[in-house]
Amino acid sequence: MKKAEAHFRKRAHKYNRSSNWVSDEKLIARIFELSGAGKDSIVLDIATGTGLIAKEFYGRVGKVTGLDICRDMVEHAKGCMDEIVFSPVEQMPFADDTFDVCVCRQGLQFAELGPAISEIHRVLKPGGTAVLCHLTAYGEEDRELTFRIQELRNPARKNYLMPDDIPAALRRQGFRDVQDIRYVTDESVGKWIDNGAIEEERMQKIREIYRSSGRRFREIHNVRFEGDDIIDAMLLVIVKARK
Ligand SMILES: C[S@@+](CC[C@H](N)C(=O)[O-])C[C@H]1O[C@@H](n2cnc3c(N)ncnc32)[C@H](O)[C@@H]1O
Repeated sequence: MKKAEAHFRKRAHKYNRSSNWVSDEKLIARIFELSGAGKDSIVLDIATGTGLIAKEFYGRVGKVTGLDICRDMVEHAKGCMDEIVFSPVEQMPFADDTFDVCVCRQGLQFAELGPAISEIHRVLKPGGTAVLCHLTAYGEEDRELTFRIQELRNPARKNYLMPDDIPAALRRQGFRDVQDIRYVTDESVGKWIDNGAIEEERMQKIREIYRSSGRRFREIHNVRFEGDDIIDAMLLVIVKARK
């Protein structure tokens, strides 16, 4: 947890511009729509960061609470939610059956997955909805390079995810109606590499991985070399499930 907090402390000031998916309005609207939230819903945005997901719900539902461990990130989330709570997702200070909706975009890769999913299940009301959205590898052929890039990008990461990992963890926890949606996002490596937390040596290693990658990785990720930049079609999996 300390490693993740230190990483995001360095990124906080640039976070909202640190990749294309971060500010992708279509993606954010899709997460809102999948949550099924209505005007009376009590919503929890886990790993809220600068509040970009919470903001989509704020004012349109009964109450939005953001949860995070990094004060520097949340500093940028003012006006995006009704309430902020500082706590790790693995041990949340909420009573059982509190929320109608729990959302989390790009947070669970930094958490202990089993305890986090168990906590999400506990704090959701019976019939409540979880919407969890994360970058994953596409499959066996790209997993090694994708995970190596992800490790260089953020050494605080605890989980390297395949498309079925979160759906499977939700089913094991007893969630029902588990549904996953694939969302491909064109990401500029030049943009996300400059996030404030990656030093020059790691930047070079990441660029080198793309330059020396094989044909299949380039096909799967639709890798394009455009001037000084590299474009990678990354895969986000959005998982919806009911308690
Ligand atoms: C990539 S940002 C995602 C922010 C936001 N959800 C979004 O989609 O823009 C990851 C966030 O997870 C938070 N985080 C990392 N580990 C956490 C944990 N164990 N519990 C709660 N939040 C955590 C970080 O502080 C950071 O703000």
